[in-house]
Amino acid sequence: MDRIAELCAYIDACYTFADVGCDHGYCTQYALERGLCRRAIIADVSAKSLSKAEKLLSGHIASGAVLSVCCDGLDDIPEDTEQVLIAGMGGEEIIKILSRGFIPRKFIFQPMKNAPLLRRYLISRGCNITRDDVFGDDKFYFVIKGTRQGAAPDYDELEYAFGRDSLKNPAFARYAATELNKKLSYLGGCDEGSDSSSLRREIALLKGAIERYERKTNS
Ligand SMILES: C[S@@+](CC[C@H](N)C(=O)[O-])C[C@H]1O[C@@H](n2cnc3c(N)ncnc32)[C@H](O)[C@@H]1O
Repeated sequence: MDRIAELCAYIDACYTFADVGCDHGYCTQYALERGLCRRAIIADVSAKSLSKAEKLLSGHIASGAVLSVCCDGLDDIPEDTEQVLIAGMGGEEIIKILSRGFIPRKFIFQPMKNAPLLRRYLISRGCNITRDDVFGDDKFYFVIKGTRQGAAPDYDELEYAFGRDSLKNPAFARYAATELNKKLSYLGGCDEGSDSSSLRREIALLKGAIERYERKTNS
């Protein structure tokens, strides 16, 4: 599985695209090479990471199509940027970036952990989530795509935990089965008397999600 290609399939055609936490710059390269954006901003808090993207995209920087900024989160990203990608960071870090900055007009977030926290944050800020899905084979990645404006969805507990579209996706069934097995084996190894309540709750959520997936796909 090519994570960059799977992730970048979420990018809509737009005029300006910003890749925050761009590191190598592959996502921006993907967007430019497929004509998905006319202008792009590559941004990273680490000058060393950013230099990789600058090297990769040097031709586009020279032509003026790409602007490179070394900044924390959205600090130097214009608020009217049409579409912003933040991928490969934790959900809490993404929330910090949005709280200090702004919610982009159109966004794609791919949190490495704490996706449920990010969903709750976005919905509490009134964002519309247009796709909330997962991809992967043995490693799985949740992607939350949406817009600053529009109606926030009325998620239930399972949708907050895993994303609305994931619950219909065969990739999710594979993820959930793997996670459930892992957690059941942790539970089996827990000492008697230790507090396993959060593990039991995670197991219950996974079982509920698998049941819903099976109901949806069998109906
Ligand atoms: C694991 S890489 C992900 C690269 C790419 N976005 C991807 O998904 O393949 C995370 C990158 O985010 C950058 N980063 C972490 N926190 C950041 C922040 N607050 N603002 C901007 N960049 C940040 C790191 O320096 C690193 O280059």
